[in-house]
Amino acid sequence: MKGILLHGGHGTRLRPLTHTGPKQLLPIANKPMSEYCINSIKETGAKEIAIIIGGLGANKVKEYYGDGSKFGVKISYIEQDEPRGIAHAINLCKDFIGNEKFIVFLGDNIIQKNIQNFAKKFEESDADALILLCEVDDPSRFGIADIKNDQIVKIIEKPKNPPTNFAVTGIYFLTPVIFKMIKNLKPSWRNELEITDALQILLENKYKIIYDTITDYWKDTGTPEDIIHANGAILNKMEPYFYGTKEDGAKIEGKLMIGKNSIIQKDVEIKGPVIIGENCIIESKTKIGPNISIGNNTLISEVDIAESIIMSDCIIKGKLKIRNSIISKNSTITFTEQYNENERIFLLGEGTKILF
Ligand code: DAU
Repeated sequence: MKGILLHGGHGTRLRPLTHTGPKQLLPIANKPMSEYCINSIKETGAKEIAIIIGGLGANKVKEYYGDGSKFGVKISYIEQDEPRGIAHAINLCKDFIGNEKFIVFLGDNIIQKNIQNFAKKFEESDADALILLCEVDDPSRFGIADIKNDQIVKIIEKPKNPPTNFAVTGIYFLTPVIFKMIKNLKPSWRNELEITDALQILLENKYKIIYDTITDYWKDTGTPEDIIHANGAILNKMEPYFYGTKEDGAKIEGKLMIGKNSIIQKDVEIKGPVIIGENCIIESKTKIGPNISIGNNTLISEVDIAESIIMSDCIIKGKLKIRNSIISKNSTITFTEQYNENERIFLLGEGTKILF
């Protein structure tokens, strides 16, 4: 089996976080979200992965993943000139795939379950596609499968009146027959070649689509809230480690992952799960957690912060209560007023400076 990872698109819905790079490189628990996808693809046994890149920050993707050797796979890159749709992106990989079965993973999908068994089921079946479904509360945001007598009878993209709550997740097991279906596709209302439409044509032409359901964690990280949620979910599953130092009087409760040369000063309160990168200083009187990720080389002082992501090289200072925020790298927040109970929410692009 070969793998395709979709790392293109403009990430417009996540601006300003995506002004300086692709959304799939935004960190969850201090690792780019697409790295979790690479790890999932590896679980299928795939040794070769094509990454679709395009638009802003395509070079950052190449810089990070290189030839894949650091990640234990062989990676090649395929450029998509414009985000013309998931099916369009898949079609660019026709030569790369050849005659093999393959998996397509959308680089903004996070799943916690090991997908090895789904891959095995597909490899051993005579199905032309295996899709993974997950029950959701907001079905109009997704591709939706209509199911009758355990068979998929229809697949529709973002329906206004969803027939079921079963979202088609962005993890597709496919055979090269899909390329024939993509050939006959017309752009959708959002002017994209939709994978959902290609799957629907498969069904209409009596090809076999089987499915499985994900009953534990799956997230399409389409909004900042989704990213913060996924961050908490991943942190909760991590094994704690401690390579930093802690001064006497610092209180740590729950899981903490802390990197080399990071210091937790006295009177700091940490409520896990929390991850802190390398070379960070958490100054006295700071309250951190739960569900916090802090990148490398960041200084936090006196802040009370929970349910948030702070990337590397940031300075956050002051008697401030921060919740549900994403603060991109190289940003500074300095708050000089007296503490008040108001919760602040920040969504800051790279290099933002705020003084108030
Ligand atoms: O996450 C699951 C959903 O993903 C499915 O339920 C939908 O059926 C499917 O269409 C897709 O919907 P989205 O609207 O969330 O897709 P989005 O435009 O966000 O693109 C998904 C990923 O693929 C994202 O990481 C960007 C990348 N992409 C997207 C397009 C359109 C590309 O690399 N190239 C593209 O042309």
